[in-house]
Amino acid sequence: MIRFEDVTKRYPDGTTAVGGLSFEVSEGELVTLVGPSGCGKTTTMMMVNRLIEPTSGRILVGGEDIAAVDPVRLRRRIGYVIQQVGLFPHRTVLDNTATVPALVGWKKAKARARAAELLELVGLDPATYGPRYPDQLSGGQRQRVGVARALAADPPVLLMDEPFGAVDPVVRAQLQDEFLRMQAAVRKTVLLVTHDIEEAVRLGDRIAVYGQGRIEQFDTPGAVLGSPATPRVASFVGADRGLKRLSVTEIEPGDLEQPPVVRPDDPAGRAAAELRARGARWAVVLDDRGELHGWVGAEDLQGGGSVGDQAHRMSAWVPVGAPLKQAFGVMLQHDAGWVAVLDGARFLGVLTPAKLHEALRRSVDAEARGVARAEVPFDSVADA
Ligand SMILES: Nc1ncnc2c1ncn2[C@@H]1O[C@H](COP(=O)(O)OP(=O)(O)OP(=O)(O)O)[C@@H](O)[C@H]1O
Ligand SMILES: [Mg+2]
Repeated sequence: MIRFEDVTKRYPDGTTAVGGLSFEVSEGELVTLVGPSGCGKTTTMMMVNRLIEPTSGRILVGGEDIAAVDPVRLRRRIGYVIQQVGLFPHRTVLDNTATVPALVGWKKAKARARAAELLELVGLDPATYGPRYPDQLSGGQRQRVGVARALAADPPVLLMDEPFGAVDPVVRAQLQDEFLRMQAAVRKTVLLVTHDIEEAVRLGDRIAVYGQGRIEQFDTPGAVLGSPATPRVASFVGADRGLKRLSVTEIEPGDLEQPPVVRPDDPAGRAAAELRARGARWAVVLDDRGELHGWVGAEDLQGGGSVGDQAHRMSAWVPVGAPLKQAFGVMLQHDAGWVAVLDGARFLGVLTPAKLHEALRRSVDAEARGVARAEVPFDSVADA
């Protein structure tokens, strides 16, 4: 979908920002460009929408050499989230989001309806936030508007320059999660710049690790972490690979344990007997559709009534597919011996520290054998 063929950019003052770049991003793939400040990431990105012209080499988007495409027409197909968000301060959030559709001639009502839909998609209620101005938003909310605006004309290609750069780590992780969820639904072809290796690993299907003006390694997160191609990549990736692996290994349904299940309208006495029979100290409370209502401890059930009356809210939970690191963080935060794993509202099971360790081992073993983790059946390594 995006193809660089031996692309070099030399600025008039003689600085070679990038030299001899060749790589390809497939349709629907998310590639992160990561590297130290000044290594040429923004330059690479801005050549794709012709805000910067290469000195030599060719760039193809959707098979077309972009040198021959009218830049304005080209940019309609390419959403762009710039490094400093860059919202228009004197326009409302809704109008900011509708900028591109309005530019390309959509009717006002249609452009605004689309903008509202996108605000919804990035987790901002259009009725609340649509009429506000950018300075009435938090940093994280502004970044969400930046992403919504870039998606507004539904471009197949998205360029994102440090889209989650200007917020604290907690909000950043939240924005990353939301973005991954959205990307799973819209499947854009994305080039995303970051200088944070953790973010690159977390978001990228593949990662391009830059040295000065060139790509040192272009591969999957597992390969970059597991076998860095050059000393520079190794030092950039850092020594604490085990910890970083926590952030690339996703929780899979096979990793989970199944605690006893009770229903909200079960009488407490019957539920207590069930727990005793299984030697369990607590159970999850699920309704008939398998949706989670909370959890209940054996002691809670002494009081009588129904299970629903005694249930506690489940605060220690993560979505399925979340990285192990997130589950570990939630465990520490809630001082819990387990975290619930949900698929939407549906309860899948719980992750315990022992299972977390097993999952980590599975991931390291898969790497050592040079297989992608999706190809490794859980059973084959469960006792490794
Ligand atoms: N207009 C320009 N004229 C001359 N040199 C430039 C120009 N724009 C960028 N450069 C240089 O090109 C190199 C690459 O810049 P670029 O903006 O692509 O880096 P970056 O990887 O995005 O860095 P950062 O992480 O700090 O945003 C730097 O050395 C920069 O100083
Ligand atoms: Mg930059």
